[in-house]
Amino acid sequence: MIAFVDTSARDSPSSDPVIVTRDLRKSFTSVQKEPGLWGGVKGLWSRKSVVKEAVRGVEVCVGAGEMVGFLGPNGAGKTTTLKMLSGILYPTSGEAKVLGFTPFQRKPEFLRQIALVMGQKQQLWWDLPARESFLLLKEIYDVSEPNFKARLEEMTELLDIAAILDTQVRKLSLGERMKCELVAALLHAPQVVFLDEPTIGLDVVSQVRIREFLRRYQARNRATILLTSHYMQDVKELCERVIIIDHGEKMFDGPFADLVSRYSDEKQVRLTFERPVNKTDLEPFGRVAEMPDPLHAMVRVPRAESAKRAGEMLANLPVADITIDEIEADEVIRQLFAGR
Ligand SMILES: Nc1ncnc2c1ncn2[C@@H]1O[C@H](COP(=O)(O)OP(=O)(O)OP(=O)(O)O)[C@@H](O)[C@H]1O
Ligand SMILES: [Mg+2]
Repeated sequence: MIAFVDTSARDSPSSDPVIVTRDLRKSFTSVQKEPGLWGGVKGLWSRKSVVKEAVRGVEVCVGAGEMVGFLGPNGAGKTTTLKMLSGILYPTSGEAKVLGFTPFQRKPEFLRQIALVMGQKQQLWWDLPARESFLLLKEIYDVSEPNFKARLEEMTELLDIAAILDTQVRKLSLGERMKCELVAALLHAPQVVFLDEPTIGLDVVSQVRIREFLRRYQARNRATILLTSHYMQDVKELCERVIIIDHGEKMFDGPFADLVSRYSDEKQVRLTFERPVNKTDLEPFGRVAEMPDPLHAMVRVPRAESAKRAGEMLANLPVADITIDEIEADEVIRQLFAGR
């Protein structure tokens, strides 16, 4: 059983926190309809409402200039938390402060300093070319002409989108659109950026470019960024610190490096055999994690004994090929959730 720890740097005296929440909660109440026609008819006079506690007392404290990964399985409450922090959703209870503002009061001074980018939601005007949306945003956010020009130029180059700025947004590919969404969200140079799956559905090349772009934006602006992604690579490359939530509760808060080294006390040995092997033949050597067919297997072994166990397998099994690897961070996190 894996214990969860909190090794966050919240007591660091170097900077005032930019994002702070205390016992932040959000419940959704929805009416449940029984299936079928009869269920629909019954629902007319006896509605059963169900309460979903999407966020259950999340406490976070993020300092200026931090880029923090926000991880958790589907339905964990990540988007709901980001929506509360950006003022789109009103919490059921608890407190949130971002740059000293209460987000859901939606004060213009607050909105001018933040951005929320959602990979799964379109925010640009669909019928306009991106350039025209950018010009509208320039007016909305009152960005000066020189700043607008410099920022647009820089971001356009970094994301390699000069050629598509005058194409109607509806005609762009998903990746092109996402790049334009990022530019739109960052034209006013917000200090705090909430990124909800900015690379979802994109090819690897676009993911790399967007990551590089975000890294530069953050470094240049000393922006505070909260990033959710289902691609571990995003978080691994961009975030020193990660917060993991599940079922609306915070489970881990600390350096990404700690997460992997702390919890992966095993290594994985991948094996290909010359002839079929039984699972029971493998069990003396380690924990058989995968065995899709009798010729292939993946066995988890204690980190400290990985070389010894691999030697034993080579000596005792008809091994055609063998590799020893670290367990992937995604797997470590999956184990965390499974252990709960
Ligand atoms: N408007 C809503 N009404 C009812 N339930 C909702 C609403 N929005 C979210 N939920 C529920 O709250 C829970 C948390 O949802 P949320 O979108 O925050 O998860 P998530 O961590 O972002 O998941 P994913 O990784 O799939 O994006 C889910 O069980 C979801 O079904
Ligand atoms: Mg989400």
